[in-house]
Amino acid sequence: MTADATPVHPEETPAPFPRLDRAAIEALVRAGQRLLVQGGMGIHASDGLAGKVARHRGARLVGVGTISAVLKTPEQLRGEIRRARAEAPGGFVGVNLMAAINKDDFEALARVSIEEKVSFLVQGAGISREIVRWCREGGVPFCGIVSSGRLAAMYEKWGADFVVAEGAEAGGHIGDIGHPLPTLVDEVIAATSLPVIAAGGVDAADVSRFLAAGAAGVQMATRFLACSDGDVHPAFKQMHLAKREDDVVIITSCVKGMKARAVRNAFTERLARGEAVPPRSKLWWFGKDGYRGRRGSCIQCLGEGLCKARASGFKESFCITDALLEAAVHGDTEAGLFYTGQSITRIGERDASDLPRAAEILTDLEQRLADEARPSDAGSQARPAAVGAAA
Ligand SMILES: Cc1cc2nc3c(=O)[nH]c(=O)nc-3n(C[C@H](O)[C@H](O)[C@H](O)COP(=O)(O)O)c2cc1C
Repeated sequence: MTADATPVHPEETPAPFPRLDRAAIEALVRAGQRLLVQGGMGIHASDGLAGKVARHRGARLVGVGTISAVLKTPEQLRGEIRRARAEAPGGFVGVNLMAAINKDDFEALARVSIEEKVSFLVQGAGISREIVRWCREGGVPFCGIVSSGRLAAMYEKWGADFVVAEGAEAGGHIGDIGHPLPTLVDEVIAATSLPVIAAGGVDAADVSRFLAAGAAGVQMATRFLACSDGDVHPAFKQMHLAKREDDVVIITSCVKGMKARAVRNAFTERLARGEAVPPRSKLWWFGKDGYRGRRGSCIQCLGEGLCKARASGFKESFCITDALLEAAVHGDTEAGLFYTGQSITRIGERDASDLPRAAEILTDLEQRLADEARPSDAGSQARPAAVGAAA
């Protein structure tokens, strides 16, 4: 990030969000509260959710919203951050930034997040040490997403404030397909003294179990795709209803050939047959200026050498930007790629008109925790969360 970076609209920069650093999380845990983090979802899938989740402050759960920076212009990201701040004054709102995206976008979007002093910055899909430094210099807490205890220990050494342990049941790209969440959480808690958030396939019925295992909170993403007041296309919500195990597939993504979980449809069947799906123009979504001025059909959204489609001259794999935009923004159920988590099969509503608001998901979880704790309130918190518990 260039040293002379100046805010785009300095006069409009309002008061900062509260910091979600290690000390703040440890204080909440000591007070008997845990975090319910809404996972950031790229390519506009989680737009509109962060402020609605961050408004929740219950006796047992504190809502934390995450905005995805991926494939936003700096102006779009700034707008989404300010929207969340207006919806949840004083709430915890962070930004998810994938290290796998191209360097210029990565720097520009990190800069906006730091200027806006979001509650935390979380890094998924790739590892950049630079961003930990930028966060430290900018006074923004940093969180790493980890798929092993070794990675958690590394992030602790680098100065992270907390980690999200993301198991194989997660939606979208999967760090380690062989590492289910229950064993991963134990491994990560043993490897670090940082607060640990459990993510991947978590459903309402699982929350107390991961908290009892010592997690400082849980992260859910898939459940929030199927709520009535997120911005994602209505067809994306519909694709999340009444699904069974055989509606969920693991694909090989163009991003470094990582595995990813998605809803089975005509697009995933094409991939299963080994068809290549090269990029086409993005102008239909980004308007007359194109994507930040680039009008070519491949917008080079990923970092150097990370896109399998581009590396093969578009003869293999597929364009992830097209496929995910078709799903989240266009709602094309045939040509879109609908990322999802394993908990999709546990979404109870069968009709889109029955979907709860994001706030209702939080109040239901809060109520459920209270009900589960009632028989022996002391027993439910028997094992203290991983505050200072490890290493
Ligand atoms: C549609 C979709 C898009 C996602 N995009 C991202 C992303 O851009 N960056 C990231 O770190 N995680 C991403 N994830 C992972 C989620 O943030 C979350 O950690 C994970 O899915 C586990 O929660 P879940 O099992 O409740 O979905 C995505 C998940 C889904 C379903």
